[in-house]
Formats: sequence, C-alpha cells, structure tokens
Amino acid sequence: MERYTKTAISLHWLTALLIIAAFALGVTMVDIPGLTPTKLKYFSWHKWLGITVLGIACLRLLWRLSHPAPAYPFQMPRWQQAAAHALHLLLYFLIFAIPVSGYLYSLAAGVPVVYLGVVPLPVILAPNPELKPLLKLTHYTLNMILLGAVILHVLAALKHHFIDRDGVFKRILP
Ligand code: HEM
Repeated sequence: MERYTKTAISLHWLTALLIIAAFALGVTMVDIPGLTPTKLKYFSWHKWLGITVLGIACLRLLWRLSHPAPAYPFQMPRWQQAAAHALHLLLYFLIFAIPVSGYLYSLAAGVPVVYLGVVPLPVILAPNPELKPLLKLTHYTLNMILLGAVILHVLAALKHHFIDRDGVFKRILP
C-alpha cells in the first residue's frame, strides 16, 4: 500500500510530540498558585513550544498542499472517508488556531512573546483588558476541542489497525 512521504511522517510525529508537551505544560502551569519563577519559566516554555508548533504547522500545510495524501483503501466506506477528511481538516485548523489564540491572548494580557528568549515576535495587538478574557476562553475552548479530536483520531487509527486491519495506520508509522 502507498505510504506517506518521509517528510510528512516526520512532521506528523514531531507535531504530535510538541502538542502533547505544550498541552501538558499548559494544564500544569495554570494550576501553579501565585507568580513563582517556576510558573513564569513554564509559561515561557509553553509559548516557545506553541510557536514552534505554529511554524511546523506552516511547513506541514505547504507540504500537504504539494504532496497529496495516499488514497484510502477502496473497501473503506464513503462516510468514513468523509469523516476522516473532516477530522483532518479540523486538526489542521486547530494547529493554527490554538497557537494564534495563545499568542493573541499573551499580547492582550500585555506580555509580548520573545521566542526562545532571543527573538522578539511582532506585537500585533495592544494590551486589551476587554479582549483578554475572551482570548483566554478561546484558547481554552479550542484546546478542549483538540483533546476530543485527538481522542477520535487515535481511536480511528487503532480501529484501522486492530479491527479493519487495512494498513491505514502503518502508512503514517516511521
Ligand atoms: C500547540 C500549541 C498550544 C497548545 C496545545 C496549548 C495548550 C494550552 C493549554 C492546555 C492551556 C491550559 C488552559 C487551562 O487549563 O486553562 C494553555 C494555557 C495558556 N497558553 Fe497555550 N497552547 C498552545 C500554544 C500557545 C502559544 C503559542 C501561546 C503564546 C504565545 C500560549 C499561551 C498560553 C497562555 C498565556 C496560557 C495561560 C492561560 C491562563 O492564563 O490561564 N499557548 N495552553
């Protein structure tokens, strides 16, 4: 069966690792009480991870647009192909929307982002106390949608592997 390209496979697993790390750090850091040095450090790491995801998302999208995904197996029902396609579109949307919402939230809160502590990123939004809670809620909600989408994505992959045994999961494995 036709596989994904090595580049697509690398970008897929790199995105997965970075998102898991950013997500875990996100839920950990917001639960640290007060404003400790550890909390501030985690916030910075979280932002750097998220900006890295955004950069990789751009590369992924360019790669995907220039390298079509392998076709689904012919025996896969139409509705499942449509559902897979819709879920993949949602995941692509989220890997852009989540970092962008976090970035805008940080700016609205009056905290410019300095990538890796070295590269100051553009301040495209002035501090904005009205937008701040809205962007925070957006960032949170998009993350909960991501959690649901990733669970579905993993369950579908496992179904292909253990129930359908159609090789669909193997073609994204390194
Ligand atoms: C893949 C990228 C990202 C993921 C998966 C992610 C995930 C999360 C999660 C799960 C939380 C905890 C939400 C909560 O429980 O309240 C969070 C909080 C936060 N994120 Fe992100 N994030 C990403 C990117 C970014 C980026 C790029 C920035 C900024 C440059 C950012 C800034 C923040 C901030 C400031 C908070 C704290 C919200 C608060 O004040 O409670 N995030 N993120």
